[in-house]
Amino acid sequence: MKKILMLCLGFFGLYAREIAGKVPLVSKDMAPHSGGDLLVSSQMIDNILHYQTWGELFVYLQVHWFRLLFFGITVGVLVVFLLHYLIIGPKKFAHSGKGIFVYSIFKRVVHWAAALAFVLVIPTGFMMIFGKELGGGDLVLTARYVHSIGTVLFIVSFIPMFLMWLIPMLPSFDDIKWFLMLGGYLTKKKVVVPAGQFNAGQKMWFWVAMLGGIVMIGSGAMMYFQDFHLSILDRFGLDQIDLIRVAAITHNFLGMAVAALFITHLYMSLFAIKGSLDSMIDGYKSEDEVRYMHSSFYKKLKKEDKI
Ligand code: HEM
Repeated sequence: MKKILMLCLGFFGLYAREIAGKVPLVSKDMAPHSGGDLLVSSQMIDNILHYQTWGELFVYLQVHWFRLLFFGITVGVLVVFLLHYLIIGPKKFAHSGKGIFVYSIFKRVVHWAAALAFVLVIPTGFMMIFGKELGGGDLVLTARYVHSIGTVLFIVSFIPMFLMWLIPMLPSFDDIKWFLMLGGYLTKKKVVVPAGQFNAGQKMWFWVAMLGGIVMIGSGAMMYFQDFHLSILDRFGLDQIDLIRVAAITHNFLGMAVAALFITHLYMSLFAIKGSLDSMIDGYKSEDEVRYMHSSFYKKLKKEDKI
């Protein structure tokens, strides 16, 4: 185990030096100053370089940090879950009996549409971030198109998903208790975990995917459509190119959070609890799992004579 960890850290260190060592920091005098207001025009390059309000920060982050952070966060999250799986392992619950019906066919279809969208969007996002390492060209261009197709699918699944889970995803007192015991995931034992239909971790993923999703769609659209004019920008003293830079910075940082939680969601639903995937296939969750992992929800169902 120690060896795997050292290997990952070593690889990360080498990669960090590789990026930081190669690229110079941009300095203010690198920007020529000439006019023109359209981004896509015969003076395109001059215009891009001319608007420097956010340009320097954007180039600095783009050159030095984004790839490094994406790489570090992804490897970090994967290592944490690998260690969790090897040291603590998955939770096992009895799957006898019919189980408790939790996800209607409508909810499952909406969920899988969103899942497909993310399966398209996240790997292709990584392909664009690491476009240089992949050699650029048609492969990365194709990734960009697939990224856009995935986004359209996400837009379609977004509203039904938001509406169907809005109420059960609202915060509750159980969430604080859940965080204090980290959802019972730090022990192999079955412990009674305070949670309603959804626990605090699931709620966090929902809100990041939904609210973060809107910001990702908006910032992504700004980068995709590029040459548009919003008169409101003038009032805030922002140029169009600056808006795209702010959009790119936001998209990258938020993208790291979304990607990290997406990996977390995959680990939780595929590995952390044995047989958890079944509920998104046939709609039924093991009664034993609900009794322990969603104890408040279980008590509520009992009280209402639903189980
Ligand atoms: C291949 C990708 C995905 C897989 C394998 C997957 C799997 C699952 C499974 C098995 C559950 C049921 C967990 C349970 O109730 O114990 C679930 C629930 C859920 N999924 Fe996914 N999912 C994926 C992608 C997504 C995406 C992209 C979103 C959001 C846009 C999403 C949002 C949710 C939410 C909000 C829930 C309910 C709360 C939770 O369990 O986190 N899922 N998913």
